[in-house]
Amino acid sequence: MALVKHYLQFRDLTRTEYDHLFARTRWIKEQFKSYKQYWPLTDRTLVMIFEKASTRTRLSFEAGMHQLGGSAIYLNTRDSQLGRGEPVEDAAQVISRMSDVVMIRTFEQEIIERFAANSRVPVINGLTNEYHPCQIMADIFTFIEQRGSIQGKTVAWIGDSNNVCNTWLQAAEILDFNVHVSTPPGYEVEAERAGLYGTDHFEQFSDPMEAAKGADLVTTDVWTSMGFEAENEERMRDFADWQVDADMMRVAKSDAVFMHCLPAHRGEEVSAEVIDGPQSVVWDEAENRLHVQKALMEYLLLGRVNN
Ligand code: CP
Ligand code: NVA
Repeated sequence: MALVKHYLQFRDLTRTEYDHLFARTRWIKEQFKSYKQYWPLTDRTLVMIFEKASTRTRLSFEAGMHQLGGSAIYLNTRDSQLGRGEPVEDAAQVISRMSDVVMIRTFEQEIIERFAANSRVPVINGLTNEYHPCQIMADIFTFIEQRGSIQGKTVAWIGDSNNVCNTWLQAAEILDFNVHVSTPPGYEVEAERAGLYGTDHFEQFSDPMEAAKGADLVTTDVWTSMGFEAENEERMRDFADWQVDADMMRVAKSDAVFMHCLPAHRGEEVSAEVIDGPQSVVWDEAENRLHVQKALMEYLLLGRVNN
């Protein structure tokens, strides 16, 4: 089992591996856009386990596996034994004997780590409370498509220091760019939970306008992530001044792009004017989940393919 390669957090891959994956993503996307069949994963099966809701993650993994010639099976907590207390270790033993790759969306990172430790096949993190690595891979690929290399650039993260924020921070250390984070008091980044080794790629700002100043990319996410619904009312009050609006975009670079992993709440973390405006690349960002994850599955199952 030690030889199986998993993707549980952004730092599970190196910069060289990301360079390879972004090159493969470009090629795989081109095949898809020109209706060329590419079936390297014929007869392979992806199992997708969802303990939280999803639109994009389910769709992009399921469609992606079909497009690579394989098939995908959807399991959720409600109608599998997972919701009835079967130990995650037992589920991993069984599921990984019947499939070739597993994607999991769950709560604590520890759950996916326990699953992976008992899995015979690669496990991919489709979002945990701590991380969302596939999202940031898609976001960085989108930035590269729009503006070129992200190295040395500045990303402004406005809002909650959640799973998506933590993953941006890990990515900054690996791909050598900077993240300016602004959260309301009490919601600051916890370096250990974010899985950071150093602090030289990120800076925290109490004023969101200061964080956005001069940024190449401005991004945000919901104020209340899945699993934290009980805090919703309090968060609506605490985050009220952390909306990405046109004034905030004006202090970023004039060619800054706006990203959001979606789903979005217009009028809360972002104004309609920004997310539906000319600097927003959210639809490309969502589409690129499909292409980067196809490259990721190809890499985890077949290694470095070059064609
Ligand atoms: N961005 C993202 O992961 O979306 P879903 O929750 O719809 O999968
Ligand atoms: N931070 C959000 C992302 C949803 C894709 C959540 O965890 O709910």
